Amino acid sequence: MTDKVVFITGASSGIGRATTLLFIRAGYNVTGTARRIERLQTLKNEVEALPSPHGTFLPAQGDVTQPDTLSDAVQHTLDTFGRLDILVANAGVGHRGAIVDSEWDDMQTLLRTNIDGVLHSIRACVPAMRQSGSGHIMIVSSVAANISSPYAAIYAASKAFVSSITGSVRLELEADNIKVTDFLVGRTETEFDSNRLGSGKRSGGGLPTMDVDQVAQAIVNTTTTNRKRVILRLFDRLIVWGGIFTPWLLARLAKRQYK
Ligand SMILES: NC(=O)c1ccc[n+]([C@@H]2O[C@H](COP(=O)([O-])OP(=O)(O)OC[C@H]3O[C@@H](n4cnc5c(N)ncnc54)[C@H](OP(=O)(O)O)[C@@H]3O)[C@@H](O)[C@H]2O)c1
Repeated sequence: MTDKVVFITGASSGIGRATTLLFIRAGYNVTGTARRIERLQTLKNEVEALPSPHGTFLPAQGDVTQPDTLSDAVQHTLDTFGRLDILVANAGVGHRGAIVDSEWDDMQTLLRTNIDGVLHSIRACVPAMRQSGSGHIMIVSSVAANISSPYAAIYAASKAFVSSITGSVRLELEADNIKVTDFLVGRTETEFDSNRLGSGKRSGGGLPTMDVDQVAQAIVNTTTTNRKRVILRLFDRLIVWGGIFTPWLLARLAKRQYK
C-alpha cells in the first residue's frame, strides 16, 4: 500500500480503465474521470469486490474539454485523499477522414479533446502536485505522432502536439520536482476504433495489436522512473525510426492503411 494518489482521465474504458485497476491493485488511491459516470460507477463496484488490500477508487464525472469539471475533480480528490501525485492524461479520441472533406464538428471535437484536454488536465493537477512536493505526469500519445498520416492527419497532429510539449513541460516543472513522460502507444485492443470520429470505422487491418494490460502495466511501472519517452514494442520503435529516417515511405504506407 502507498499513500500516493493518481488522477486518470478517460478511466471509463480501454487504457484508462485498465491502468486504474492496476494502480488500485498496487495499493494506490485513484480518481478516475470520464463523461460516462455509469461506467465509472461499475468500475467502482468492481474495485470494491477485489480481494484486500487495495486502494480506493473515486469516480468523478468530467469532460476534459471543460476545465472547470477537471478543477472540481481535483478538488474532490484533495478533499477525499488529501493529495495528488500522478496524472495519467489519457482521455482521447480518434478520427479518420480527409482534412478538406471531414465534418468540422468532428475535427473540432478531436482537437478540443486530444489537445485542450491534455493542457486542461496538466493545468488542473500541477497546483496539487506542487502541494505534495513532487509529481509525475504521463501523457498518453501515439506512435502516429511522428509520421505523416493521410486520412488520420488530425489525430496524428493532435498527438504530435502533446508529444511536442513534453520536453518543454519537463523543464518548466523540473524545479517543482515533477516528472513528465511521453507515452508513444501503438495499436492496442480497446474501444478506440468503435469510438472513432469521422468516416472510417475500419480497424487496424492486420497490424499487431497490444493487450490493454501491457500498456497499463508499462504506465504503472514508469512511475518509478524518470523516463522522458516510452515506446513499448520493437514494432512501434520501427514506426518511429521509419518516421525519422524514411518519412516518405512511412507516409505512403500510412496512406494505404488509413484511406
Ligand atoms: N487503442 C489504440 O490503439 C491507441 C493507440 C495509440 C494511442 N492511444 C491513445 O490512448 C488513449 C486512450 O484510448 P483507448 O484506446 O483506451 O480508447 P477508448 O477505449 O475509446 O477510451 C477513451 C477514453 O477517453 C475518454 N474520453 C473521450 N473523450 C473524453 C472527454 N471529452 N472527456 C473525458 N473523457 C473523454 C472516454 O470516456 P467517456 O467516453 O466516458 O468520456 C474513454 O474513457 C487515447 O488518448 C488514445 O489516443 C490509443
